[in-house]
Amino acid sequence: MEPLLELRQLSVTFATNYLSIPVVRGVDLQVGQGEIIGLVGESGCGKSVTCMAAMGLLDDNVRLGGEVHWKNELVDPQNDVSMSRLRGREIAMIFQDPMSALNPVQTIGKQLIEAIRVTAKTRLNRKTLRNKAVELLRDVGIPDPEKRLKTYPHQLSGGLSQRVMIAMMLAGEPDLLIADEPTTALDVTVQAQIMDLLRDLRDKRGMSIILVTHDLGVVAEVCDRMVVMYCGRVIETGTVQTVFNRPHHPYTSGLLASLPRVDGEDDELTPIPGVVPQPHEFGAGCDFATRCPRVSERCYAEFPDLKSSESKHKFACFSPFSAEYEELEV
Ligand SMILES: Nc1ncnc2c1ncn2[C@@H]1O[C@H](COP(=O)(O)OP(=O)(O)OP(=O)(O)O)[C@@H](O)[C@H]1O
Ligand SMILES: [Mg+2]
Repeated sequence: MEPLLELRQLSVTFATNYLSIPVVRGVDLQVGQGEIIGLVGESGCGKSVTCMAAMGLLDDNVRLGGEVHWKNELVDPQNDVSMSRLRGREIAMIFQDPMSALNPVQTIGKQLIEAIRVTAKTRLNRKTLRNKAVELLRDVGIPDPEKRLKTYPHQLSGGLSQRVMIAMMLAGEPDLLIADEPTTALDVTVQAQIMDLLRDLRDKRGMSIILVTHDLGVVAEVCDRMVVMYCGRVIETGTVQTVFNRPHHPYTSGLLASLPRVDGEDDELTPIPGVVPQPHEFGAGCDFATRCPRVSERCYAEFPDLKSSESKHKFACFSPFSAEYEELEV
């Protein structure tokens, strides 16, 4: 499958006059058409910065490295002209907090119509714009869409606001939606509805989605593949099934072990000891070394390349769990 979006060795460094801080370090990521990719990892590991860098949403003081390819063409995320052609029309992004992303002094209708107008390929008259707005609200499951056009954001619940945000992002009929923790501000039942909606949009429109989340349960349920990041690097990636059943990197394995289970086994959760190093503390070796139960001398000196056990499952570790799995098989 041809990738829609491909990041090759993407790196992001925040620089001031005195110091430069590497935050994303050589990320490779591919998103195929109609795929839902879960991007996971502890707070501060660079998930949002990776997405924002690919969309060209970071400030000018940021140093970008590596390559971003969109539909097999190299794009320059720091070139505003070329990115403004992509943003909204081909790639759209929704953020964590819908309440602050909507304009509080304009009606939903006005904001939605504006989103449709600016992303439309041709000039549309008022009636067509309005009809499209109603259709989009209906698509994202908002009841009584005609009436909703006249409401203001503060009159909507969190779940409805997030649906409106998604409707606005769909206005340009993007091929890829980047959803950065779209449900963390919402309660669990609404969260489940929004996830169903995203999956539905993929099924009906063939849209690809990058879903940034802390919630591994959500990843297991809605994603096809997952990418696990740690300290600005991808440390494991593969299909959701493979990574959940056979995590090869001790960090991924630790993340999964720290999840509560509903089947009552293992009542106690197993936390990962230690703390995540901050970007200014990053060294030459594996950043997980100080917390890793399988650490060896080598891990402090060099960073392991992303190795592949089969073509789609990759992990960056000198001492992965693969040997144990092989033993299980005999
Ligand atoms: N504008 C900025 N200037 C300097 N450092 C930044 C900036 N934005 C983010 N960072 C740093 O970059 C690192 C990665 O941040 P990022 O927001 O990508 O993390 P994240 O994985 O999305 O975390 P979370 O799960 O909490 O959203 C963090 O150490 C953060 O402090
Ligand atoms: Mg984030």
